[in-house]
Amino acid sequence: MPLPQAVTPRRSRLACTPERLATAALLAFSGIAAVAVAVAGSPARAQSQSQSQEIGVYSGRHYNTDKALYEQFTARTGIKVKLLEAKDDALIQRVRSEGSKSPADVLVLVDAARLDQAADLGLFRPSPSAALLRDVPINLRDSKGRWYGLTRRVRVVVVNPKQVNPASIRTYADLASPSLKGKLCLRDRKSVYNQSLVADQLILRGDAAAAAWVKGMVANVRQPFFTSDTPLIRAIANGQCGVGLVNSYYVARMAAGESGAADKALASRIKVVFPTPAHVNISGAGVLKSATNPAAALKLIEFLASPTGGRGYAEANNEYPLKGNGNNPVLQRFGSFKADGVSAEQLGARNKAAVRLMEVNGWQ
Ligand SMILES: [Fe+2]
Repeated sequence: MPLPQAVTPRRSRLACTPERLATAALLAFSGIAAVAVAVAGSPARAQSQSQSQEIGVYSGRHYNTDKALYEQFTARTGIKVKLLEAKDDALIQRVRSEGSKSPADVLVLVDAARLDQAADLGLFRPSPSAALLRDVPINLRDSKGRWYGLTRRVRVVVVNPKQVNPASIRTYADLASPSLKGKLCLRDRKSVYNQSLVADQLILRGDAAAAAWVKGMVANVRQPFFTSDTPLIRAIANGQCGVGLVNSYYVARMAAGESGAADKALASRIKVVFPTPAHVNISGAGVLKSATNPAAALKLIEFLASPTGGRGYAEANNEYPLKGNGNNPVLQRFGSFKADGVSAEQLGARNKAAVRLMEVNGWQ
């Protein structure tokens, strides 16, 4: 599909150049639904502003609720935000193909593995910041300052108590128990969320134990593998599956009724179990190497990581803030968790090994 008309020109670089058309074609070729929103200001007004008062943000966070927070940032700082939302992998490709001409100053991505990939590709510039060192825990940011975590999510176990005793699941390792044969449902290997979970277990338990665990889970899987988290949660609630692995915010969204009354009713039939210790992942952001407004870009990231901005970013999508568990009543109902402390940077570093391990042990 072509880029929506809502993509408004930002400086002359966003004019309808062959490069821009090529990027639109890239997204169209990928079949990706891009959502572009000018969060603040009209093109005419934006052009009359100095360049330092406007930044381009490419975001892989697929949550419409983020826009209110960008508006808050503009109200506080006078810096306008031009937002393009699309899938993470498409945005990484887009920044690569645009090169130094990219209109984006900030790239927001979901999952540590993708942030690490973008850093490896040289897309981010190191952005030292005392505020970010203070607000972002050391294990949730890049050691070279190229990206910073902004929100946290837990890969939780969801159980249908009619099929599986929730008390029988205490760790991720328990999902390989032969007692769960035919009852475990998993999302497929393409899911970066599962890749990061396997990387996490590789780091914590070593190669041999992680391989045995994956093999054990694959032996328990009720086919076919799922392609997204929400249908998997519904299948557990409906009794097609007894137990599965999903991101915490998908369950919270259903339990809060945000995806409709039917999903809310389904969510009431299931139990969320936090394995101890729990695998925590992040969404995060970095200032792009191509940024023409790196100072303003860093200000946005500092705002999003601050207690005020961070709370808004997390709560709107039922995520956990960078520190503490927040005040979201639905998440509070799930109980508390103990994070395993594995660093987001390590998760990225072991991503390829995790994918290989899944592949050789039959995780489709
Ligand atoms: Fe997601």
